[in-house]
Amino acid sequence: PLVSSAPLLRAARAQGYAVTAFNVHTLEMLQAVVEAATELDAPVILQSTTGTVQHLGPEFIAAAARVAADQTHVPVALHLDHCTNFATVVKCIRAGYTSIMIDASMKPYEANVADTRRVVELANAIGVNVEAELGKVGGVEDDISVADHDAALADPDECARFVMDTGVPTLAPAIGTAHGIYKGEPNIDFDRIARIAALVDVPLVLHGGSGIPEAQVRRAISLGMAKMNVATELRIVFTDAIKQVFACTPNVDDPRHYLKPAKDALREAVKEKIRMCGAAGRA
Ligand code: 13P
Ligand code: ZN
Ligand code: NA
Repeated sequence: PLVSSAPLLRAARAQGYAVTAFNVHTLEMLQAVVEAATELDAPVILQSTTGTVQHLGPEFIAAAARVAADQTHVPVALHLDHCTNFATVVKCIRAGYTSIMIDASMKPYEANVADTRRVVELANAIGVNVEAELGKVGGVEDDISVADHDAALADPDECARFVMDTGVPTLAPAIGTAHGIYKGEPNIDFDRIARIAALVDVPLVLHGGSGIPEAQVRRAISLGMAKMNVATELRIVFTDAIKQVFACTPNVDDPRHYLKPAKDALREAVKEKIRMCGAAGRA
């Protein structure tokens, strides 16, 4: 069955690895992620943005995730990524999501606290995990766009206060990563991660996982990051494999002929991220 991400992330923070969370948009992507985690004996988080929830419907996503989770020995959680509205939170919980990100990071502190508390109260009562964001992760994710000059890093003291004020069990502090592929290398503030981790004992989440060099991922995890989100790289790997099929054989008209290579390529990309996060063998 699908499990809450809370115990997975607490174990990861305590033992110094990160559970990898992958944004999926199709059945084949969802299957590839769970197959990769199964092969590596790793706990894993499937996630969808609100855009994908609208695209497929939360019930279809949750049903597919449930079937995949029922067929594997590794723990699988289903997470709603970067949600800004309460109605979608409720819909996804009703459909079977086991973890919710309420993202009110674009609002003033008090409003972020209020929105987060509301979701924590609902989720706590039914064993669903909650993630909230403090500061702003740069780049574009779904319909949320943050200009570089707007991307403000999280303040460590404010992180501690936020966790106290909201009771949120998982925190995503902005520490210099961005959604999408970096022009050059990301500018991660490792010292800030260490200062936040010293003040906050809940698992921390590293957003913008695509394009971060392995050494930097490992360093961020060693300092307290217990979940890493990966979206853009998966979309690129999946789509490039499909493009390649059509480049070689433009007349293909059977979806299986282009989705199978895409799924295979994605499975390998997912395995690489799981290994990078030190999550292999942790199921
Ligand atoms: P990337 O698109 O950079 O992998 O970021 C993913 C993410 O943070 C999803 O919430
Ligand atoms: Zn994100
Ligand atoms: Na990124």
